[in-house]
Amino acid sequence: MLAYYLLLLGYATRCLAIAFDTGGNSFPTHTPGRPPAVPLAVRTPYLSAWSGSTLNSANPIFWTGDTLGWTGVVTVDGISYEYLGNGLQILPSLPSYVSASPRAVAYDSNYSNFTFSAGPVNITASFFSPVLPKDLCRTSAPLSYLTTTVQSSDGKPHNVQFYSDINSAWIVGGAKSVMAWEIFRNGASINDTGNDTVAPDTMYSWTYEPESPLPFKETGDRPQWGRLAYSTQPMAAHNLSFQTGDALNLRYKYVTAQLLAKDIDSVYHGTSDHEVIFAFVHDFGNVSNAEVRYTVGLIQDPIVQYLSQGGIAQLEPWWKSCYGDMFSMIHLHWDDFIVVQELAAQAESQLVSDIEAFYQVTAPAPRSNTPVPVQTPSLVPNSTWHPSALPTQTILPYLHDSSDAYGFLNPNNFTGLGIPDTSEPDSYYAIVALSARQVMGSFVYAIPPPTSSCDESSSGKGEPLMFMKEISSDGNVNTLDVLFPTTPFFLYANPELLKYALEPIFQLQEGGYYPNEWAMHDAGGVFPNAIGHVAGEDELMPVEESGNLVLMSYAYYKFSGNSDWLRTHFATLNKSASYLLEYSKVPAAQLSTDDFAGKLDNQTNLAIKGILALQAISLMSRLDNSPGDGGVTDAIVRSYYSDWEKFGISPSRDHTLLAYQWRSSWGLLYNIYYDKLLNLGVVGKSVYTMQSRWYPTVSQQYGVPLDSRHHHTKSDWQIWAAATCTSSTRKMFVTSIAYWLNNTATQFPFADLYETIGDGGYPQVPDSTTFKARPVVGGHFALLALLRTGQTVSAEAGNTTGSLFILNGTNALNYTGTGDHVSPLASRYGEPAGKED
Ligand SMILES: *[C@@H]1O[C@H](CO)[C@@H](O)[C@H](O)[C@H]1NC(C)=O
Ligand SMILES: *[C@@H]1O[C@H](CO)[C@@H](O)[C@H](O)[C@H]1NC(C)=O
Ligand SMILES: *[C@@H]1O[C@H](CO)[C@@H](O)[C@H](O)[C@H]1NC(C)=O
Ligand SMILES: *[C@@H]1O[C@H](CO)[C@@H](O)[C@H](O)[C@H]1NC(C)=O
Ligand SMILES: *[C@@H]1O[C@H](CO)[C@@H](O)[C@H](O)[C@H]1NC(C)=O
Ligand SMILES: *[C@@H]1O[C@H](CO)[C@@H](O)[C@H](O)[C@H]1NC(C)=O
Ligand SMILES: *[C@@H]1O[C@H](CO)[C@@H](O)[C@H](O)[C@H]1NC(C)=O
Ligand SMILES: *[C@@H]1O[C@H](CO)[C@@H](O)[C@H](O)[C@H]1NC(C)=O
Ligand SMILES: *[C@@H]1O[C@H](CO)[C@@H](O)[C@H](O)[C@H]1NC(C)=O
Ligand SMILES: *[C@@H]1O[C@H](CO)[C@@H](O)[C@H](O)[C@H]1NC(C)=O
Ligand SMILES: *[C@@H]1O[C@H](CO)[C@@H](O)[C@H](O)[C@H]1NC(C)=O
Ligand SMILES: *[C@@H]1O[C@H](CO)[C@@H](O)[C@H](O)[C@H]1NC(C)=O
Repeated sequence: MLAYYLLLLGYATRCLAIAFDTGGNSFPTHTPGRPPAVPLAVRTPYLSAWSGSTLNSANPIFWTGDTLGWTGVVTVDGISYEYLGNGLQILPSLPSYVSASPRAVAYDSNYSNFTFSAGPVNITASFFSPVLPKDLCRTSAPLSYLTTTVQSSDGKPHNVQFYSDINSAWIVGGAKSVMAWEIFRNGASINDTGNDTVAPDTMYSWTYEPESPLPFKETGDRPQWGRLAYSTQPMAAHNLSFQTGDALNLRYKYVTAQLLAKDIDSVYHGTSDHEVIFAFVHDFGNVSNAEVRYTVGLIQDPIVQYLSQGGIAQLEPWWKSCYGDMFSMIHLHWDDFIVVQELAAQAESQLVSDIEAFYQVTAPAPRSNTPVPVQTPSLVPNSTWHPSALPTQTILPYLHDSSDAYGFLNPNNFTGLGIPDTSEPDSYYAIVALSARQVMGSFVYAIPPPTSSCDESSSGKGEPLMFMKEISSDGNVNTLDVLFPTTPFFLYANPELLKYALEPIFQLQEGGYYPNEWAMHDAGGVFPNAIGHVAGEDELMPVEESGNLVLMSYAYYKFSGNSDWLRTHFATLNKSASYLLEYSKVPAAQLSTDDFAGKLDNQTNLAIKGILALQAISLMSRLDNSPGDGGVTDAIVRSYYSDWEKFGISPSRDHTLLAYQWRSSWGLLYNIYYDKLLNLGVVGKSVYTMQSRWYPTVSQQYGVPLDSRHHHTKSDWQIWAAATCTSSTRKMFVTSIAYWLNNTATQFPFADLYETIGDGGYPQVPDSTTFKARPVVGGHFALLALLRTGQTVSAEAGNTTGSLFILNGTNALNYTGTGDHVSPLASRYGEPAGKED
């Protein structure tokens, strides 16, 4: 029962609040930011463990917020310090255990590191989920590392043991279901427990799986099939022991005696009856430093159900083609640690240097000269001390003073900064480093079916199919309008991933499994069942998805130079283009990707997407030496665009409208990002400039609302919009999102949809939507994707004079704005409307 005191030091940008408990322990520092949830083991839609608060004040959570049992304890001279989870708190209060004191939390794109002090030692828990988008084998392995190290801080050796357990909630969730479990030594099942004096590199794996698995079925977003594997090796410990059993008994025995009894509890009644845990203990004896590594994996074979020429196929995971069986993979993954660490370090430094490269070209945006208001903390919680009583993230709210719009660009003279005195590159790094694992953790990779219709030479056995779960919104497979916002990540990190994800969509449409004229919404309604929509009953977003399919395919080509792949799908793309010819300019009542907002007539931002897609089709048709096929001419595009400007720009000429017929409405015009990214040359420079000037006038504390109907926004679309703006507006977007991350009241993995005002929580609308852990955070890489095209921070609003394009130099096709190709389709549709001018 310890009250804690809050000391205010310094009055820099934000008041620096350093809180101490009466033991003198400070709350942890956060680098580069303090996100609502920190990724721990995030590799697939099912292996997705996060820390939603201090690492040892609560158990880790699955992305939904449901609890996962994962406990980590280090015992030093008989006192057990819990650093991971709060599993020991089920025990009666005992002098022999305490929580370790959190000191620092740091993340980069691949690691989340937590450091603690624990009596005479420091503990570091390093969670490592490598992000290696170019390495399909390593990326497809559904395994993640935890490395825990202990270092004496008084220079003396201490008697040290490591304890860790996981519970059975990682599969099926809280449902009452019977699990079957085993422990393996070097891949062989063993029944004995207790002390083992074997080689340091002997691999031990606890595994469990549902006794009656239901492949491809989920409950509460948790899989009902597959195997959880928790592995470790003795390493330098002189003894390794392991045991399974009831959580309370087993943990009690450990903290009182540091022993695991020879007992494998074989009577399992389901998670709702009693909590069964699977534990390891490493005994090091007297040491001044020690290290233990664990790997956790959720392994599914088969992994995806897929409709293809041979019928519904059960696809095997891609890692099988790399590693063989599960135990070989676990072993190789373990041995790979050092190599992967090196690769990760390279990739991480690549990310950092790319961000520097993007930003280095111009001087930083002007700094605000306005004095920073000093705020007095008025919301200091005064509960008794417990890690969960950490200062809430809104403890020092950044107040929006509407009278001087402090914190925003001054709408009169456009000076000032979103969040003064914060570095935009640092803010941007905090956002993308957090987003990388979230994007990669939404996909699985599968071996294509043998009967796949895909061309063996270009996309046969040699390449995986990728299946994405539309996490938390509706669980669809490879939703086109979720892939689309994610594209900047793929284009930056590895454009081939985009091809692997689009391929199932093309195969389903070209295999005759989709009856509609436009592009399908997704490859299947319920992940991981990519069984298409043979009745065409998918969510109806024809302009949205047709535009997405065309633009993504063209983007893949532009970033890869692979025109062969594009050619194989021309026919399908042209079908979408035909639809867009008819409906893009005046889409009438359609849903856009922001379907939570409902249908709206003639959405300006939707229409421009369709028009940009027509331009992409027109450019693609030149790839083929039969120009005609595209059916779209430059003249059509120009005329559509000119009408779009007439319909879509406010009569005041200071912003675009949300919808043609709705005077005074406005919204983020994020789709013009693709005009800039692909150098499509459609959108006039004045539109970029106008929007860039407009956004600051409507910006709120945590960013610019998605549109004039609400005060919530989308982080992905904001960064897309930021990428089309001048440096000061871009900085406003980037820093306000980073500021939101530090301060939001949301408490689950990165919410792309949030309030720009108040506590920055989930949308305050009646059917409140809580988006979590969605892949669309790949959109945060929009600035880095621009860098790949040669554009940097200096390529401001509409200024696409960078060295564009085709990144690998072959098949270059530059848009010149001349040379119309009149095609049969064009005459079929007649001259486009828009002769008004
Ligand atoms: C986390 O720890 C790993 C392993 O020591 C290290 O390579 C990495 O740089 C650390 N990252 C951060 C952000 O501290
Ligand atoms: C232990 O952590 C403290 C900060 O919490 C640090 O000052 C000290 O240097 C660390 N000791 C070692 C040996 O790393
Ligand atoms: C483990 O014990 C079970 C039941 O007691 C037995 O069926 C199984 O064969 C044993 N496995 C090994 C590897 O000894
Ligand atoms: C493990 O070894 C320790 C000492 O080496 C001993 O005290 C303990 O009883 C053993 N535990 C089991 C379960 O055999
Ligand atoms: C680390 O993260 C960066 C940025 O996402 C990525 O490019 C790189 O491949 C990652 N590598 C490893 C080993 O984590
Ligand atoms: C702190 O405690 C006082 C007295 O118990 C109470 O009136 C006050 O509302 C509390 N403040 C907060 C922020 O909880
Ligand atoms: C812009 O407006 C701010 C706030 O109103 C003011 O402090 C600043 O001096 C102005 N800058 C210029 C160049 O007028
Ligand atoms: C460019 O891409 C094409 C098609 O993918 C490939 O054949 C060619 O080798 C690439 N060229 C370079 C320089 O990478
Ligand atoms: C917008 O769409 C509606 C039909 O949904 C149509 O009646 C109206 O004329 C359109 N407005 C414009 C400006 O095209
Ligand atoms: C977010 O928090 C980190 C760590 O406390 C701080 O360094 C950073 O400047 C903050 N960023 C913003 C934009 O407030
Ligand atoms: C546009 O790009 C050119 C060449 O990179 C640069 O000199 C110019 O300053 C840019 N203009 C703006 C408004 O950024
Ligand atoms: C495209 O433009 C670049 C830069 O202006 C130029 O180097 C290249 O030769 C052009 N390619 C074609 C096919 O015209």
